[in-house]
Amino acid sequence: MTTALWRDTWATVMGGFVPGLAELERTVHVAAEAAAGGPPRRVLDLGGGPGVLAERMARRWPAAEVTLLDIDPVLLAMARAGVPANVTVVEADLTAQPWPLPGAYDLITAVMTVHYLTSAQAADAYAAAWRALAPGGVLIVADLMPEDGLPGLMGALEPGPEEAAAELAWAEWWANLEGLEALLHERALTFRDKSPAEFVASAGWHAAAARRAGFAEAGVVWRCGRHAALAAVRT
Ligand SMILES: C[S@@+](CC[C@H](N)C(=O)[O-])C[C@H]1O[C@@H](n2cnc3c(N)ncnc32)[C@H](O)[C@@H]1O
Repeated sequence: MTTALWRDTWATVMGGFVPGLAELERTVHVAAEAAAGGPPRRVLDLGGGPGVLAERMARRWPAAEVTLLDIDPVLLAMARAGVPANVTVVEADLTAQPWPLPGAYDLITAVMTVHYLTSAQAADAYAAAWRALAPGGVLIVADLMPEDGLPGLMGALEPGPEEAAAELAWAEWWANLEGLEALLHERALTFRDKSPAEFVASAGWHAAAARRAGFAEAGVVWRCGRHAALAAVRT
């Protein structure tokens, strides 16, 4: 399989995890343009993986400088091979701060990235994102983010059968990669001491973490079942 096909199938796998992903991306685009009063000029995608979402932002905003930050050597190689010229790919650990980036971003996105962190690391990431944004810039964090309330009773914390199917598709995607043994070995070492990608917090937790980090406004701008996107604006 080619890098282009791996990136295409990645998009399908992520679509299985995040029902309504296309709608989420539209929400990100509209929120960023509203905050910037037009196309954002500087965009940072945290945990951007193989760069599928970064590529779509870069094509929507061709004059923007888009930076993708990730730690995974396999996904970084795919990103470097596939993204357009206005995307810069940076290898860095978002839990190691300060980030090796110039800052002053109009938009920072973290889509399905924060669940790789611990709650303390997620709180620190909100603070680092606040520092990295330009005044008026917007942060969008999208992840498994159940509603507050009585999640046990509402079934909001119970994964549905589609989630098991998405997990299987994820495992198959990784198992079917060919010719990347060295990068896969490097990946295993990179994630050896990382926490399992299991952090889940409610939308209320995320909004409170954003406010503690300095964001004056933070609230859910998109929801599809157990998944939601929180937008936080740096004033
Ligand atoms: C489920 S993937 C989502 C990728 C991309 N945002 C998307 O939606 O297609 C999570 C990404 O977060 C990255 N990631 C996890 N922990 C990280 C860390 N500490 N620093 C940087 N990236 C990290 C992973 O390598 C992976 O690319």
